[in-house]
Amino acid sequence: MQYGFFDDDAREYVITRPDTPYPWINYLGCEDFFSLFSNTSGGYCFYRDARMLRLTRYRYNNVPADTGGRYFYLRDTSSAGDGDVWTPSWMPMKSKLDRYECRHGMGYSRISSCRNGLAFSQVSFVPLGANCEIHRITLTNESNAEKNIDMFSFVEFCLWNANDDMTNFQRNLSIGEVEVEGSRIYHKTEYRERRNHYAVWAVNAPIEGFDTDRQAFLGLYNGFDSPQAVFKGKANNSTASGWAPIGSHHIKARLATGESKTFVFVLGYCENQEDQKWAKQVSGGNSGVINKTPADTLLKKYSTTEAADKALADLNEYWKNLLNRFTVEADDKRMARMAGVWNQYQCMVTFNMSRSASYFESGIGRGMGFRDSNQDLLGFVHLVPERARLRILDIAATQFPDGSAYHQYQPLTKRGNNDAGTGFNDDPLWLICGVAAFIKETGDYGILNEKVPFNNDEKLADTLFIHLKRSFDYTVTHKGPHGLPLIGRADWNDCLNLNCFSKTPGESFQTTANYESGIAESVLIAAIFAFTGPDYAEICRRTNRIEEAEYAEKEIAAMIDAINKHGWDGEWFLRAYDAYGKKIGSSECDDGKIFIESNGFAVMAGVGIEDGRAFKALDSVKEHLDTKYGIVLQQPAYKEYHLELGEISSYPPGYKENAGIFCHNNPWVTIAETRLGRGTRAFETYTKICPAYREDDSDLRRMEPYVYAQMVAGKDAPRHGEAKNSWLTGTAAWTFVSISQYILGICPVFDGLLIDPCIPSDMKGYSVNRRFRGADYLITVDNSAGVEKGVKSITVDGKALNGTVLPVYGDGKAHEIIVMMG
Ligand code: BGC
Ligand code: NOJ
Repeated sequence: MQYGFFDDDAREYVITRPDTPYPWINYLGCEDFFSLFSNTSGGYCFYRDARMLRLTRYRYNNVPADTGGRYFYLRDTSSAGDGDVWTPSWMPMKSKLDRYECRHGMGYSRISSCRNGLAFSQVSFVPLGANCEIHRITLTNESNAEKNIDMFSFVEFCLWNANDDMTNFQRNLSIGEVEVEGSRIYHKTEYRERRNHYAVWAVNAPIEGFDTDRQAFLGLYNGFDSPQAVFKGKANNSTASGWAPIGSHHIKARLATGESKTFVFVLGYCENQEDQKWAKQVSGGNSGVINKTPADTLLKKYSTTEAADKALADLNEYWKNLLNRFTVEADDKRMARMAGVWNQYQCMVTFNMSRSASYFESGIGRGMGFRDSNQDLLGFVHLVPERARLRILDIAATQFPDGSAYHQYQPLTKRGNNDAGTGFNDDPLWLICGVAAFIKETGDYGILNEKVPFNNDEKLADTLFIHLKRSFDYTVTHKGPHGLPLIGRADWNDCLNLNCFSKTPGESFQTTANYESGIAESVLIAAIFAFTGPDYAEICRRTNRIEEAEYAEKEIAAMIDAINKHGWDGEWFLRAYDAYGKKIGSSECDDGKIFIESNGFAVMAGVGIEDGRAFKALDSVKEHLDTKYGIVLQQPAYKEYHLELGEISSYPPGYKENAGIFCHNNPWVTIAETRLGRGTRAFETYTKICPAYREDDSDLRRMEPYVYAQMVAGKDAPRHGEAKNSWLTGTAAWTFVSISQYILGICPVFDGLLIDPCIPSDMKGYSVNRRFRGADYLITVDNSAGVEKGVKSITVDGKALNGTVLPVYGDGKAHEIIVMMG
């Protein structure tokens, strides 16, 4: 069943009923201020760091789900209304609505509904260049009699540190503080001492009253679905003192037939310099009154409907320009809208959020992952290359001098995170992968000369090139008995914890190492080395480091040799050797005989193509791992816990890394299939995990049909086909790479754009407009020949091109490119 549809022209997903199988969310914000926004106006917002600077409270795991958001309660006191109270975004009252629609667009969401002739519209967004959410609310009287409406706004403040907020009640119930001035409610908890920031929740209209104390507003033992003040039709003008500070405005609106009224609500983050914290300094102490200058400036900016509309128009323009850098037209609308719009949009979200805040990631757990952020970069470098550059320098600064890396760093401090530490031996190689993608996109070799600290220590700074070398060398110098890379704590698969041996509940599988075997090896890391190593060698050559290039090529050859000798199982590539030197991912194993990762990546790297093993490997993947909903991670699923394998065997069969469809690595197989020229199969693996193709199956899939999920339950799970962990996943970047570079075949290389499509033979053609190094490439691919791979000819602006690499024009012009397959 479907719960909405794609409006492609508007680049919106339109949800047509509020009771989606899970809250279907959007992300607002592209710079420092971010909001999670569900189709019923649930969610929360934060400034830069979802854990440390959270403005509004959100209870994960609440019942009912998704209670907590920015809510607007309406009460109709006209005779036809008879005191009727409802929430026009459906939640939290689950109000019956005569009409409902939520449009999630690029950086904004719009909820429209109607009840008894009172139409409500809420447009929510985070404007560019400001740290706030704007909610533009319009009430329209569609009935044929006058309406008197009481509107109550509602937000519940978080006491900034989201972790502390939900655990440290002995302190927190005593520290809440607010100020109210006119239509502005200020949340200033902890401002008296170490904080210099506060939140403001304001509306550009006079108010009848307000509440800032949750209990006063809701009433004792009431939930968000039955606030006393609203039913009474009167705010209490309560001032929070400890307990739970909230912000609620009471507004009265009288609407003649056909009349509309618009209100602009702003929820903002404001910061003062340390010496300007207070309104008026009092000798011997402070005034206790916050300095409201930053709030004044912010609210002045959005004090009118016109100003809010202008901010929304600017935001629309920003997204239009961004997404115009890569657009797709094709007969297959689902592919076109995903590749051209939603997949890239999701990549921007993973750029901003990494794995911190979603409806599955609580925003308090993980910082920016070294491995994750480098891979995310592959999906957004073509959109915001300048920001990708800065990101690379941030990530590289958390690398250790020996090439290993902090597994995560905190976005606010940009320091490596001691809790997660280091020792994930795939990490270093992803830096090469990210930097190579950046250079291929931009041609900016200058980045290699940037001085970047090691371990955030300026004294240890060296060039980014040296960072790459240390990454490369780390793998070379950390090999096991078979000449394959040591796995360390884990590789890409965080749950393959071969040195962990954990028997203690609650112990972290990833950071515990009870068994320093020094021999557990990863075939996947070997394959990653074989895939990214050549880019390192090429970068060396192109920057005149010939000896280094030769050394790198020798090491890559040695690694491929080791894969061939010790990484091949007969019908597929092995996955690893455990701490006892036993095979993982071999036909000799009882469970976990075959894994997706090493097979996808080895073939991506080209291993086994010449002698046919690559074909065998992918055929085995299809035979043993493929399902209707995508390729599972391994088979057979582990039925019991294996001390020597770790977390992978802790999951019930079919979920997460234990034979779930871990979408992130499906595109590796897609790309691998294109290397073999099998376009039909490549496209099939692409579509199976692509959400738009499962829109009409939303009851089973449950997650948003416009974004990828990290995991879909595998065939061993009772809920095979059900997705979880939507939004923040490396799936976004890799599927974009697979569709844009390898299926549609428009692939940035060091010298330009390589054109090498690999598509189903019945795909007639498509066109892609792509901005690349300062020019627009308007590419039309014609497959009337009906092939899966192969380019017969290319013309550029009417002239034949030699070869298949479109050169760098860099002339700010548009170039017409016609590609004939055959
Ligand atoms: C999950 C992994 C994830 C890891 C990160 C594990 O519980 O299964 O997917 O990468 O946690 O900490
Ligand atoms: C999610 C993590 O964010 C990612 O780093 C890891 O590779 C996958 N899980 C697989 O375990």
